[in-house]
Amino acid sequence: MSNGGRVQGKVAFISGAARGQGRSHAVGLAREGADVIAFDVCGPVEYSGVPAASADDLAETVELVEKVGGRIVAGQADARDVDAVREVFERGVGQFGRVDVVVANAGIQGLASATADDSEDNWRAVLDTNLTGVWNTARVAVPRMVAQGEGGAILLVSSSLALKAAPNFGAYSAAKHGVVGLMRSFAVELAQHSIRANSIHPTTVPTPLLLNENNWRIFRPDLEKPQLDDVIDLYRGINLLPVPWVESEDITHAVVYLASDEARYVTGVALPVDAGMSIK
Ligand SMILES: NC(=O)c1ccc[n+]([C@@H]2O[C@H](COP(=O)([O-])OP(=O)(O)OC[C@H]3O[C@@H](n4cnc5c(N)ncnc54)[C@H](O)[C@@H]3O)[C@@H](O)[C@H]2O)c1
Repeated sequence: MSNGGRVQGKVAFISGAARGQGRSHAVGLAREGADVIAFDVCGPVEYSGVPAASADDLAETVELVEKVGGRIVAGQADARDVDAVREVFERGVGQFGRVDVVVANAGIQGLASATADDSEDNWRAVLDTNLTGVWNTARVAVPRMVAQGEGGAILLVSSSLALKAAPNFGAYSAAKHGVVGLMRSFAVELAQHSIRANSIHPTTVPTPLLLNENNWRIFRPDLEKPQLDDVIDLYRGINLLPVPWVESEDITHAVVYLASDEARYVTGVALPVDAGMSIK
């Protein structure tokens, strides 16, 4: 990966940064010269369907960012709680003086079920984090970006399940489709301020969100204790290119590009990084 300062001097606000893709984006943007303001819930989210991230995970992200020479302000906040999100944001802007990039990345998988049979609690939990939490993360930063008068980039992390449906993920798919509507709304409203908005659509990525027994059981309901070996060929079957997944760094490459001035005329785009999954 280059360290050519592709986002030098910019400040990036990132949600869900304790691990997985969010951590990779924090490190990747820092490596390219950005200062980072990061938050994560650092604890369980009801109906998330995945093991919880911890405060230690977020501390490790801080260490990794500093190791590549970056500066970071990090805090614990739940994306569903706009006041908590704003507190971390203001603390970061207090330190770095500005914000140029938002990466609304925090998300949960939710529990799988046939869409008509989904529980109201699961439905709400998934919509609250994956759609309202994304809105909260962007909306606390927008007024500051507008006031700066120097443009900016809003990146909303969606999924290939916003471009294509799969059985038993109705709430997730609906929330991720909703993210596209949110992205396009920001794009048309904020273009007059040279603020761009785009969404990114990963296929399978080997983070805790994917690599957990709940997920494996969805693919292999016939097994009591499915393991990765039991599902890896099924993951490969999802994608057009012959890979079971793309790496977090592959998503980070798209994030760095869209955050940088190289993408200065790219807005309103739903960008798949999906090994062809959405056209298979
Ligand atoms: N892993 C995949 O296969 C995959 C595929 C497509 C899209 N995505 C999306 O990518 C994004 C990142 O996921 P990941 O793969 O890194 O998963 P992950 O579970 O490793 O990381 C998600 C992070 O978000 C945090 N988080 C969850 N709910 C939160 C909340 N309410 N407030 C604040 N933080 C919260 C978690 O604590 C965790 O640190 C998500 O939006 C996910 O839906 C993932």
